[in-house]
Amino acid sequence: MLETASRLISGAGGDMKTLDQLRVRYLGRKGELAALFKGLASLPEEERRGAGKALNEAKDELERLWSAAVESAREKVQGRGEIFDVTIPGRRPLRGHLHPITQTAMEIGRIFGGLGFETVEGPEIELDYYNFEALNIPRDHPARDMQDTFYITDDVVLRTHTSPIQVRVMEKRRPPFRIIAPGRTYRCDSDVTHTPMFHQVEGLMVGESISFGDLKGILTVFVHQMFGPHVGLRFRPSFFPFTEPSAEVDIQCVMCRGAGCRVCSQTGWLEILGSGMVDPEVFRMVGYDPETVTGFAFGMGIERIAMLRYGIDDLRLFFENDLRFLRQF
Ligand code: PHE
Repeated sequence: MLETASRLISGAGGDMKTLDQLRVRYLGRKGELAALFKGLASLPEEERRGAGKALNEAKDELERLWSAAVESAREKVQGRGEIFDVTIPGRRPLRGHLHPITQTAMEIGRIFGGLGFETVEGPEIELDYYNFEALNIPRDHPARDMQDTFYITDDVVLRTHTSPIQVRVMEKRRPPFRIIAPGRTYRCDSDVTHTPMFHQVEGLMVGESISFGDLKGILTVFVHQMFGPHVGLRFRPSFFPFTEPSAEVDIQCVMCRGAGCRVCSQTGWLEILGSGMVDPEVFRMVGYDPETVTGFAFGMGIERIAMLRYGIDDLRLFFENDLRFLRQF
């Protein structure tokens, strides 16, 4: 018995629960040793003394072994300075997600994708030719002012809008096609409502009999999908050198629903994009025949769409990358 008990004690590996069970089994009041002590009474007189002595020695030995095992188990736990509670739930690692601007760009891409528009890209460092000249923006146009454009050399700029992608696509493809092109754009401008880098999405649909009605239809579907089917919109005559006629699109203010508030300067309307029928001059520049080809184009600021969509009133929040802000999306 002594042998089995000492083997079990050292085999407990310092596990307190096992050691406690062994103490009850061998050293407890109703344990194996106690039973043997009780048995002494039935032994013949001359054997009783020797057996009693042996049992007492065995008991001392077991108690010594058991205390030593408990002591070393305690030391192990205290040495680590902790008690490991396996039932405490684990700490969750932080999981990131896409930036709200990226999410908005993807949502725009998803809506136009459903209308048959393919997503393409173009370079951020752009030739003056694509950014201006091929878009019918003459040398003396105010948009070319050093105040607005980051010039790298006389002929190379950081694109000031995504419209140069229109030209690049038309040079490579033959109509009909419909594309959208999201990307970063740059203007030398910085205040509460302008950042030197921002994002736009360009749209272009070209074919044989694309009309202003198509432009209105497509953009109306977009607005209703993006902001909700009850949001009103209006097409307001405007001017861009590369579209004729041109229109800016306003939506009913998402804050006051058209009643008039601070966000919409009491007008009830918010401008969200520029658009128009592709100017024949632009078609000529890419070698299309303006007598047989027509099309429309539009461009919108992604930050602006995201601000209206999420009710954000400060553009700069998108670029500070404060996690307390970003985590809300
Ligand atoms: N590129 C114009 C801008 O940045 C927007 C636009 C795109 C207007 C396409 C008409 C057609 O303001």
